[in-house]
Amino acid sequence: MGCQYDDPTHNGASSFTVAMPRLTFGRGTLSEIGARATRHQLKNVALFTDPYLLDGPLVATALESLEKAGISVSVFSEIRVEPCDDTVMRGAAFLSSGTFDGLVSVGGGSVIDTAKGALLVHQHGANIVDYFAPPIGQAQAVPGPVLPHLACPTTSGTGSECTSITVIRVNSLNTKFVVANPYLLPTEAIVDPQCCDSLPANVVASTGFDLCCHALECFTARAYNQHATVTDPNARQYIQGANPFSDMIAREAMDIVNHYLVRGVNDNTDSQARDKLMWGATLAGIAFGNCGTHLPHAMSYGITHLMSDITTEGYAIASPFVPHGISVVVNAPAIFQYTAEATQERHMQGAICLGADNKGATVDDAGEVLSKRLIELMRDTHMPNGLSGVGFNESHVKALAESSVRQARAIANAPRESNVVDIENMYSNALSYW
Ligand SMILES: [Fe+2]
Repeated sequence: MGCQYDDPTHNGASSFTVAMPRLTFGRGTLSEIGARATRHQLKNVALFTDPYLLDGPLVATALESLEKAGISVSVFSEIRVEPCDDTVMRGAAFLSSGTFDGLVSVGGGSVIDTAKGALLVHQHGANIVDYFAPPIGQAQAVPGPVLPHLACPTTSGTGSECTSITVIRVNSLNTKFVVANPYLLPTEAIVDPQCCDSLPANVVASTGFDLCCHALECFTARAYNQHATVTDPNARQYIQGANPFSDMIAREAMDIVNHYLVRGVNDNTDSQARDKLMWGATLAGIAFGNCGTHLPHAMSYGITHLMSDITTEGYAIASPFVPHGISVVVNAPAIFQYTAEATQERHMQGAICLGADNKGATVDDAGEVLSKRLIELMRDTHMPNGLSGVGFNESHVKALAESSVRQARAIANAPRESNVVDIENMYSNALSYW
């Protein structure tokens, strides 16, 4: 594969930054949380979790470990799947009601993202919405660090424990927006695959496709040296584009998807596969936290904005609800058919990492080969058949595109430019695949 970083004609950024928390991975490591908190000299922590985990064994393990270490704990559990601005503000008020010196989050991406937002508002004031980019917010700067945050994921998908990004739904607009800043990076990520042992198959599939798309989007993203030069090193965006570090991590994550996604979804006793998926999710989180995603994530926001009358098995949440990973992957085969034209070799390499059969194919077939492999993985894990499988039809395409086109930064990280009409066409092509 030719090196896309060696082209002297790009005249763009000439450097990239890598950031990640201290990472601990392995079965049983959740019970190390007390020792890790002690290391940061924490004495009084807030533990953020959700109502479903609250009385379960994972929170009990974390509480026991913290208490054994002599650390006082107060629990905040008013967090729903797909956290909203109200939830974040309530979390911030909870933090401000005590004298906490740190935060432990035990949960999926919703819990960890809520924790990041609450820490930000608690430390630096304002409303979480003010930190979003205009026209939604005022792009308020994040002026400094927040309290130490030890993040313990309980799903194998979002990778939020390793990113400086929080994704929050703005209730009044019914749309998700992002705040990203290096100060939001958790201090430690404690990733215990045991936390995923009891996840329903559909949750493993949805989160698995989230990890799959994080990795594939990073691998096919616009190269960092095709993004604008950064004059202020502190202003370098986390969406900095594909770079040699994110490539390396994304490749490994895609290899894990190839070998273990179908196994992990279809056999809940296959702990080897599920452990590997947890590791893959962490890797893919590190990759996208240092690169940024592109069109599949940008176009997923249209789905979660406009979904109606749809539920998904395995999730304890009222209709309408399409899990994040599903909202991302249903468009992915159509999107990569579109983007492949820009960097065919990269797309073919991504397809091969995901286990595609490319016998007899040339690079001109990269979009087709990659799309076919994604569809195969979707079918083998019982995913919805494209947009029509999550309640949309051709009449929704225009509104979906108008909603998603607002995700300008992620769209600009795609290897091929697209306007609202191109996005409409991608949605049309994503209506059904089989
Ligand atoms: Fe994601």
